[in-house]
Amino acid sequence: MEASFWHERWTSGRIAFHEGAPNALLVKHWPALGMGRRVFVPLCGKAVDLIWLAAQGHDVVGAELDPIAVEAFYAENGLTPTRTQHGELTLFEAGEISIWQGDIFALTAERLGPVDAVFDRAALVALPAEMRVSYAAHCAALTHAAPQLLITYEYANPKMKGPPHSVPADEVQAHYTGAYDVRELERCDISGPLTTRTSGSEAVYHLARRID
Ligand SMILES: C[S@@+](CC[C@H](N)C(=O)[O-])C[C@H]1O[C@@H](n2cnc3c(N)ncnc32)[C@H](O)[C@@H]1O
Repeated sequence: MEASFWHERWTSGRIAFHEGAPNALLVKHWPALGMGRRVFVPLCGKAVDLIWLAAQGHDVVGAELDPIAVEAFYAENGLTPTRTQHGELTLFEAGEISIWQGDIFALTAERLGPVDAVFDRAALVALPAEMRVSYAAHCAALTHAAPQLLITYEYANPKMKGPPHSVPADEVQAHYTGAYDVRELERCDISGPLTTRTSGSEAVYHLARRID
């Protein structure tokens, strides 16, 4: 997917994916997982999930392509970030929430630093099939396969053009079984604004680092 697609979405305000409140499945499942302190949120947009995670005592680090999204995140939450340039990426920092603004594929494990847990909502499913392969591998490499809470959509609707894309359970397994033990925690009907475009299910997975 072209960067221009997402920049156009943010510029024109076509961001139906933005929930405006902490994701219900995050709030439901995260506390029981015993996730460690520093949480990485790839393709974070301006998700309020970052605020919720920080309120649970986590240090939070996001990655987001679009500067409008990052600036809106801090402004809408009453935070004033510092900005530092690292090559083609800009690091925004305020309190316990940092965001690397730029292409996630330009982010390295060294720059990101230690990560104890990952939260993926509307990130894997935002990308087309061929990008999902490299995204999943990159995310696992960036975080040294830190445990992950992953939320996906699954639908069989030939008329529905993603994003969000349908990512079935066997595809999740294919992306992640090399590095993780993948466990489905819940499956429920798609709800919210997406129901105007398709029916289907939303699935929640816990990815635990594989110990070989
Ligand atoms: C569907 S939105 C989800 C945002 C957020 N996770 C949420 O739940 O609201 C996907 C986000 O990924 C960002 N994105 C797309 N490609 C990216 C890339 N290569 N690097 C970093 N962010 C990217 C887009 O700008 C967009 O904000």
